[in-house]
Amino acid sequence: MVVGGTSGIGLATARLLVEHGDRVVLVARSEARLRRVAGELGDRTTWAVADVSEPDAVQAAVDGCLQDHGRLDAVVSTAQAMAYGSVEQVPHDVLAKVVEVGVGGTGNLARSALPVFREQGGGSLVVVGSLLGEISVPGMGAYCAAKWGQMALVRALQVETRRERGVHVSLVLPGAVDTPVYHLAGSYAGSAGSAPPPIVPPQHVAQACVRLLDRPRRAVHVGPGTLLTRTGFRLAPGLYDRLAGPLVGRIALRGPGVPDHPGNVFTPRPDGESERGGWTPDGRLRTAPGRRARWRRR
Ligand SMILES: NC(=O)c1ccc[n+]([C@@H]2O[C@H](COP(=O)([O-])OP(=O)(O)OC[C@H]3O[C@@H](n4cnc5c(N)ncnc54)[C@H](OP(=O)(O)O)[C@@H]3O)[C@@H](O)[C@H]2O)c1
Repeated sequence: MVVGGTSGIGLATARLLVEHGDRVVLVARSEARLRRVAGELGDRTTWAVADVSEPDAVQAAVDGCLQDHGRLDAVVSTAQAMAYGSVEQVPHDVLAKVVEVGVGGTGNLARSALPVFREQGGGSLVVVGSLLGEISVPGMGAYCAAKWGQMALVRALQVETRRERGVHVSLVLPGAVDTPVYHLAGSYAGSAGSAPPPIVPPQHVAQACVRLLDRPRRAVHVGPGTLLTRTGFRLAPGLYDRLAGPLVGRIALRGPGVPDHPGNVFTPRPDGESERGGWTPDGRLRTAPGRRARWRRR
């Protein structure tokens, strides 16, 4: 089961699994997008509509998988939405939903999938967290809170399942990835978000997820530069704090001006979803094949 399998890293993971000969159940909120992606990936793919933050919907997706396939070997969770803006700018309900998807959603998946793994004698849960679960970035507080909380929950799950033979929980922590998440995000910061370089393709993260299904590990980082950023955050917090604000303004929030909006936090935006977001490794946005555009600096 790939939760968040209709876009970005989840879609790349689902594609890789299908190429390996696995049967895949896609889970996301948009039925139209699920139908389209399942059609594209072929007849080894089925789908279930669920908002990962709703426990009953997650349970129904797992029950449906057991009904259709007789078992559930693995869950890869990539579901997340984000919203830009300072903690004061982002409205309460938006912040709460972003955190609920990352933290509550991970809890819902664990509650529904781990008993199945136990009953079957094994199974793997792979959660895609973020570098932003280990550092905090101004203007992205809601997302950081979701990813820090998600990481705490996953680490607790790993200790709780430690002695269970065959039941595994792994965490993947990417830096920036070329997916549509930046275009789909809400913003209360006055401008649209953009991917901060260095940016890796979603296939790199998908490969890490699939490797973890065969060889589970506590945590795997993906992407260059993540060690330097984590080290700076922990060992030189004064310098980090001085640099973080200006760098976020110049790099992560350098998109065009936009009015306040919640993006895909409450409702999916299927037309904006795809496997790649159109970012080059050095942070430019491809506008059309062969052409490149750089966001104007604000
Ligand atoms: N892209 C990056 O630079 C980056 C970096 C570090 C970590 N990550 C992490 O990688 C994971 C995947 O991100 P991505 O960039 O691939 O994002 P993406 O392209 O925006 O895809 C997100 C997927 O999650 C689904 N989703 C969103 N909210 C959901 C909800 N409430 N319930 C169920 N499904 C939901 C979306 O479908 P619907 O909207 O139809 O539900 C979509 O399939 C996330 O955990 C993200 O935090 C991404």
